[in-house]
Amino acid sequence: MFITLEGMEGAGKSTLALGLAAALEARGRTVCLTREPGGCELGKTLRGILLNTRSSVCAEAELFLFLADRAQHVHEVIRPALAAGSVVICDRFADSTVVYQGYGRGFDTAMLRQLNDAAIGGLWPHKTFVLDLPVQEGLKRARLRNAKDQSAESEGRFEAEAEAFHTRIREGFLHWAAQNAPRCEVICGLQPPETMLEEVLRRLPTTL
Ligand code: TYD
Repeated sequence: MFITLEGMEGAGKSTLALGLAAALEARGRTVCLTREPGGCELGKTLRGILLNTRSSVCAEAELFLFLADRAQHVHEVIRPALAAGSVVICDRFADSTVVYQGYGRGFDTAMLRQLNDAAIGGLWPHKTFVLDLPVQEGLKRARLRNAKDQSAESEGRFEAEAEAFHTRIREGFLHWAAQNAPRCEVICGLQPPETMLEEVLRRLPTTL
């Protein structure tokens, strides 16, 4: 099974990903926990370019770098893990491109769906959880995290965007999730991490 976690900065995806992986491993499943950008060797290089505050990539180049990262990640990590019977949990995936580059940067979302489709060879996730919370709260959490972690600070190109951009991201995720139900389900990111994990486990097939 292929599960992705989505949402704006500071929504708690990474904590949820770790908790979900541990819970499924405790049930005897083999889990491949990965993320974008940066889930494969090529992606690590691209991540440095994409998130560094000193990079000056234009919107078109940014889009194709995210897609290049995804294509290689699917080829090298996700498909082989699924073929081996693992549960794949990916922290951000194709929906992030639709929302950030579409609702955020203004590219056409129908075109982004098609470009994603080409990059992933039709391998959309079975289930996507979109963590939602107020923009101010998400940004506050993301900035706190960046202040604690110096590498995160230099990777803050998206956090540095204006509040209006992040408002479009939040609304974009909600809109896109509604259009892509039942694959996408929205989870309240204001809940304590344990409650959020319980809710996600409840919404996954009991056989998992
Ligand atoms: P990351 O440090 O992984 O952020 P977070 O912890 O919030 O998930 O940074 C990823 C950033 O890249 C995030 O701001 C969203 C952005 N992004 C896109 O714009 N398009 C994409 O396709 C992906 C995968 C991420």
